[in-house]
Amino acid sequence: MSQVQAQARPFSTGFGAEIVGLDLSQPLNEKTFGLWNEAFEEHGVVVLRGQTCTDEQQVAFSRWFGPLEDFPDPKDQAHGFKTVLRVSNVEKHTDRIKPIDDAGHKSFWLGTSDWHTDSSYRPVLSKASLLFSREIPKAGGDTMFAHTGKAYDALPPAKKAEIDDIVVIHDFEETRRRNNLPSRPEAVRKATPPVRQPLVRRLENGRKALLLGSHIAYVEGMDPEKSKVLIAELTAFAIQPQFTYRHQWRLGDLVMWDNRCTMHRAMEYDMQNERRLLHRTTVAGDKALLAQPFVSQASVA
Ligand code: SIN
Repeated sequence: MSQVQAQARPFSTGFGAEIVGLDLSQPLNEKTFGLWNEAFEEHGVVVLRGQTCTDEQQVAFSRWFGPLEDFPDPKDQAHGFKTVLRVSNVEKHTDRIKPIDDAGHKSFWLGTSDWHTDSSYRPVLSKASLLFSREIPKAGGDTMFAHTGKAYDALPPAKKAEIDDIVVIHDFEETRRRNNLPSRPEAVRKATPPVRQPLVRRLENGRKALLLGSHIAYVEGMDPEKSKVLIAELTAFAIQPQFTYRHQWRLGDLVMWDNRCTMHRAMEYDMQNERRLLHRTTVAGDKALLAQPFVSQASVA
């Protein structure tokens, strides 16, 4: 495939674009990276179909966008790559479909199948994620994306003024509590304590986006019921069809999304009988969005 012909074709509904004419088994150069990066910055989700690429190639092209996050647990990493996450119902060592009651898979699935923003429970959010399909189910298992920048833009001015300076607490444990899963061990919890994030994120391009997702525990300083209602209201607003794109996977798809202005979720499939294996690389963000860290009431008292 000639890289010179590469171009971005915006989707006609929702948002996002397909990049055609780019072959990921070939190294990127300044020109092809420039085209890809421009489409990524403009469209929030970009799709490249019909690709073949090794983990090494995925790491190499992902790094053009910035340093990559590590995935600490070896059983979640692709063989030999700390920076490649297996998003899958297939066990790494046995190559078999995981039992339905596998605790790790259950919590991973419950986490990814709810609307979320990657790494929002960390002080430094990730910039982008790149997901490459290696095995896909015959039906289902799509990924839904919502553009929280377009959603913010469409809010009434009074709502924008009301929420512009709100701070929200994101906590990994919240997802577990909501899904009735046991807490993680104390040492793991201590490594990812709750974090403060703005509800409205100021983007580098001068625009704004809602920062939402399942890791939200509560709005700082707000009555808990009001906080729940506000987050539910904004989430419902952001996932309206005009702000969403549903990706139906084909083998060899590479989908890249901008975690600064989108959130996403995985959709159901027959995970007891059908294999689904995607490899994800995640481009790290460069700084925390708020200077002031979270201080728990327990440590203030
Ligand atoms: C993810 O949230 O990173 C994975 C989404 C998916 O499995 O479709």
